[in-house]
Amino acid sequence: MQATDHTRTIAFDAFNRLSDKAAGERIVAARARLGKRAVLLCHHYQRADVYRHADLTGDSLKLARLASQSDAEFIVFCGVHFMAEVADILSRPEQIAILPDLAAGCSMADMANLAKVERCWRELGTVLNPDEEITPVTYINSAADLKAFCGEHGGIVCTSSNATTILDWAFAQRGKVLFFPDQHLGRWSGFKKGIPLDEMEIWNPDLEMGGLTPERIRKAKILLWAGHCSVHQMFQLNNIQRFRSEHPQGIVISHPECAFEVCHASDYVGSTEYILNTIKAGPPNTRWLVGTELNLVDRLAEEVKAEGKIVQFMATNICMCSTMQRIDPQHLAWTLENLAEGRVVNHISVPPHEARLAKVALQRMLDLS
Ligand code: 13P
Ligand code: SF4
Repeated sequence: MQATDHTRTIAFDAFNRLSDKAAGERIVAARARLGKRAVLLCHHYQRADVYRHADLTGDSLKLARLASQSDAEFIVFCGVHFMAEVADILSRPEQIAILPDLAAGCSMADMANLAKVERCWRELGTVLNPDEEITPVTYINSAADLKAFCGEHGGIVCTSSNATTILDWAFAQRGKVLFFPDQHLGRWSGFKKGIPLDEMEIWNPDLEMGGLTPERIRKAKILLWAGHCSVHQMFQLNNIQRFRSEHPQGIVISHPECAFEVCHASDYVGSTEYILNTIKAGPPNTRWLVGTELNLVDRLAEEVKAEGKIVQFMATNICMCSTMQRIDPQHLAWTLENLAEGRVVNHISVPPHEARLAKVALQRMLDLS
């Protein structure tokens, strides 16, 4: 049962033709056959017709913890690739992490890779002694080999819910931080720690020396990798300004992957779990403008409307995490039926030497959060 058997798996083609409703019914039937052998973890951005099948939901930190605590034989991750990798790294060796569609990646995570980070480290080595002067911090939205890089070089992983705590730890180790791949989370967290904006420099991986002079590298407290989330960059300051002029009593809440000026103009900034909890705990009859992905916002708006709360999406255009949308009922039904038939598909398995070092960086984070 443990090995992936590509030759005998049920082909996806027939599932592709299923309606969402029919796929939903097949998911329910396959889950009944699997019982407690499979657990379905679901990120808050997942589409409604998949989310409703979740056993457990959360932001990326909560889901990482849940994966590490699960006893299930199969951890079926309805999220994106790096989340399933984390589940594989933190679960026991005999457990199997599965991503129902291998194309469900994270475009931000793809903005950094090991070759570019190693080159950055080498180039920084012409100005400083990186292993003594810089703590590498990777956002959990990154490939496992970048987490392993951090594990190997005295660094750590962070998520959107613990980045300021992680920065405290990072600066307690060494005087500077290299933060990748999300410049916005890094900048906002540095700002919250009181680091002046002119002591946070952008490292452009496509330019020699990141596009910086040795003086600017020496002066910087945080080097911010030039990466961003294509969904969260759609939220603009003028969306907030318009909302505030129309609804002076309204409350604005954003995810820290938004641009600095959006976070700065918001009343609250935090992870997806934080956004959900803050609005649910907020007073009745309040109006909220929310800067994060549309599936979460739509679901939340429905959930709290009975309390007279109005939840509005920040952008004027539709922006969803298109890669997470790839996990649809058809792929989930295909995955679960194969499992029920004793065949593992889309097994996410991080090579052991990488997993060991990545776990060092992840465990440092879990111990602090
Ligand atoms: P959370 O950790 O807040 O769930 O965010 C993950 C993510 O990818 C947001 O775009
Ligand atoms: Fe990645 Fe952005 Fe999607 Fe989050 S919303 S998973 S950062 S692409």
